[in-house]
Amino acid sequence: MTDSSLLLSGLTTLRLGGPARDVVRCADTTSLIATLAALDDAGTPVLIVGGGSNLVIGDDGFPGTAVVIESSGYTFAADEDGKPYVSADAGLEWDTLVAATIDNGFGGLECLSGIPGSTGATPVQNVGAYGVEIADILRSVDVYDRATRTAGTLTPDDLELGYRSSILKYRADKVVVAVSFWLTPDRRSRPLRYRELFTALGVDAGQDADAADVRTAVLSLRGGKGMVLNPDDHDTWSAGSFFTNPIVDAARAPEILDRIRTRLGKDVTIPQYPAPDGAVKLSAGWLIERAGFAKGHPGEHAPARLSTKHTLALTNRGPATTEDLLTLAREVRSGVRDAFGVDLHPEPVLVGCEI
Ligand code: EPU
Repeated sequence: MTDSSLLLSGLTTLRLGGPARDVVRCADTTSLIATLAALDDAGTPVLIVGGGSNLVIGDDGFPGTAVVIESSGYTFAADEDGKPYVSADAGLEWDTLVAATIDNGFGGLECLSGIPGSTGATPVQNVGAYGVEIADILRSVDVYDRATRTAGTLTPDDLELGYRSSILKYRADKVVVAVSFWLTPDRRSRPLRYRELFTALGVDAGQDADAADVRTAVLSLRGGKGMVLNPDDHDTWSAGSFFTNPIVDAARAPEILDRIRTRLGKDVTIPQYPAPDGAVKLSAGWLIERAGFAKGHPGEHAPARLSTKHTLALTNRGPATTEDLLTLAREVRSGVRDAFGVDLHPEPVLVGCEI
């Protein structure tokens, strides 16, 4: 039998994934860098694990060492103009950092409340929610470069942050060890841009509010969608959104929008947002639902189902394997492709498996 401490399912929010050969936990940046250097010297394959909220690991696990980042310090400071910022270790739980900034009288991170995972993961895929993304608040990222064995600091420009992407995604040679974010003083939030959020708070688009109130409102909106971790609620045993919102390029957009109208009726309101170069970003959750996959699909007894609160979250009801989850993902992907001609792409990082 596999030693349960080696099971990667214990390290992911989906609670899926077979064993690693070894698991090493690093409590600070110095031990993290020393551990990586020693494993690289020995030629051991390494899987870096932060909060495990964006990882889908295959049932066969990982043939090497999982290095779990558990560094958790943070400090507040200000630049020469007095502009406040916070610098945090990569392993710090993201929402602990968000709460700490507000408790210390700062705003800036409040729209990103309740996102599962570690601080170090947030710049890697330019995490975003409720009208703010990491690109809006990032000051710098400290990385350890496993190829050159050096530590360095990257600016937001170096990272080429895009929609759920950066130069750090899908690569393990540059490991984030710390991140620094700009804050706002007087516990004021950033300007509120997400309709559902500013409406809930009773303020106009573009206005700010007390960051603590914004945090409360965001946690409530996320909770209603099953996007706040709760061990007792299987709707939250997920990797957040399983697919990115698809971006259809300008040349194909009219044909795709026509196809959606042909299928759903010419008066249908299609959620869509402008993307760079005339492209159109569609809503994956909406397309999934309109392609015929209801919340909770395929039903109560399935080990892996769509969340009963949000069609974009694929969830483990307890007994699922990774293969169960991926079978569901493939079914949803082909259903959306057949219905609307739109290809969905997974948003989490897949390790030792594919769809
Ligand atoms: N919708 C449905 N059915 C559903 C859920 C949503 O039809 O079950 C439609 C609705 O029309 C809704 C629209 O989809 O208005 C958008 O839904 P939502 O506001 O929940 O946002 P999302 O596009 O599904 C994105 C991010 C989330 C982020 C929210 C809030 C991606 C892939 N996902 O979701 O981020 O929290 O916006 O800003 O961009 C994540 O990346 O893991 C994540 C959870």
